[in-house]
Amino acid sequence: MSAAKIVIVGSANLDLVAACESLPAPGETVTGASYAEYPGGKGANQTLAARRLGAEVSMVARVGTDANAEKALALLRADGVDLSRIIEDENAPTGVALIAVDAAGENMIVVASGANAHLEPRDVAGAGPADAVLCQLEVPLGAIEAAATIDTGLFAINLAPAMPVPAELLERADLLIANEAEAEFYGDALYRGSGLVAVTLGGEGAILYREGQEVARMPVYAVPVIDTVGAGDTFCGALAVALAEGMEDGAALRFASAAGALAVTREGAQPSLPWREEVEAFLKDKA
Ligand code: RIB
Repeated sequence: MSAAKIVIVGSANLDLVAACESLPAPGETVTGASYAEYPGGKGANQTLAARRLGAEVSMVARVGTDANAEKALALLRADGVDLSRIIEDENAPTGVALIAVDAAGENMIVVASGANAHLEPRDVAGAGPADAVLCQLEVPLGAIEAAATIDTGLFAINLAPAMPVPAELLERADLLIANEAEAEFYGDALYRGSGLVAVTLGGEGAILYREGQEVARMPVYAVPVIDTVGAGDTFCGALAVALAEGMEDGAALRFASAAGALAVTREGAQPSLPWREEVEAFLKDKA
């Protein structure tokens, strides 16, 4: 089987991560954390996830001309993502995410979008054709609307972070992916189109709907939780790859759930992303 071709239109950040015993409450200072920097951003994480799971991936994004840009793109470059459509923006810094992760693997994230907020429809023009196009909501809606016009069999939006999206865009999508809170934010609007809707439920697993009817459900895989940052992105990238390859609904949901489970067992967003062989071995083990 030839590799699925995927275009991702989204954000690239440098994640500045403090691992602490417990997350601070508003106004509180916690000390004793360890610090690390990792490439991140929902768009870039989903790009790398799809790449490591066997797809040919091209990413459309904006970074700054600062030193953080190369750090943010390092793993995408190392793993063979097509970066020819990455724009260096002279007027904005590379996006950064300030992340705190506690001992149970829970996290808090604040994103300073920088160049991601400047992604324009003209940056997307000419991308594709592709078997799948995948977007998130860390870049302006205009860029996502432009992505919706790319020639593809599967136009997908991960509705993270949740924000108002025109109804036509939701209905245009062949696949919407939301976590529990995001699904609550969009309510019935999530199910008005004729495409698939995947809802992840944290410890309760994930459900896939078609035209509002449940078509597949996966309980969560029990794994040791080290760091949940990037797990949702792994699920999104994996689901796009699986559906672009033609897997049926249940198998695609199982594949994405296994990839997401493996991602929580390791630190960092992108360093934690699993490879195809690992996901297949994990699934074989759980069969
Ligand atoms: O989904 C996780 C990602 O959200 C992090 O990598 C961070 O950059 C933020 O975009």
